[in-house]
Amino acid sequence: MERLITTADGSHSLMSPLFNQQYHSLQGALTESIHIYINLGLQSKIPSPHPISIFEMGFGTGLNALLAWQLAETTQTPVHYTTVEAYPITLAEARQLNYPSLTNTEDFLALHQAGWGEDIPLSPYFTFRKENRTLQELSHRRQYEVIFYDAFDPRAQPELWTTEIFTNIAAQTAPNGVLVTYSSKGIVKRALQAAGFLVTKHRGPGKKFHVLKAVKI
Ligand SMILES: C[S@@+](CC[C@H](N)C(=O)[O-])C[C@H]1O[C@@H](n2cnc3c(N)ncnc32)[C@H](O)[C@@H]1O
Repeated sequence: MERLITTADGSHSLMSPLFNQQYHSLQGALTESIHIYINLGLQSKIPSPHPISIFEMGFGTGLNALLAWQLAETTQTPVHYTTVEAYPITLAEARQLNYPSLTNTEDFLALHQAGWGEDIPLSPYFTFRKENRTLQELSHRRQYEVIFYDAFDPRAQPELWTTEIFTNIAAQTAPNGVLVTYSSKGIVKRALQAAGFLVTKHRGPGKKFHVLKAVKI
């Protein structure tokens, strides 16, 4: 099955046959990642008096990781980036993605070529760690200031949007740490609140009305 798709802003994404879901909004993968994870999430912690620790649920294509790496470089902010992925894409699939040309960087494939389960300093400003397991199996090693919560839709994977899941994440989130996600569904908002986050709705990218930002209180 052909997995590669082109979204409305010209950036690529993938389809998951396993979950029958696309990895990004069809209205624009790059636009979505920049709007939610970079601008609403990571940018809100920069400048930072100390290195920023990021956790991403769902490495997927690596687009969020690439954009976080770029921002770490341009702002000279040391970032430690941990991501978990249960069903990695292949290197051949990663090579098909048009992110290097859209973001003017040659660094993209380094994220996919990096080994699993070890801290890899990809630059003086960006240390990368990816874990090949499910979120439910993951034992965290650090506290995070920023969380990119990018699981497939709650209708496809309701088990990843529960109070229990967010309570585990809250336990790893630094005070005032932020979690951002594209889903603004009521069940997601309520589960985040029950886990101890202060949740606010924000304008989404393109035609998407709302996305969520949750602050650990
Ligand atoms: C919406 S996509 C992530 C998109 C990604 N952040 C990107 O920038 O391309 C969701 C990802 O979660 C992964 N996934 C699904 N179930 C998982 C689980 N239980 N634990 C960890 N990863 C999972 C999928 O394989 C997929 O790569």
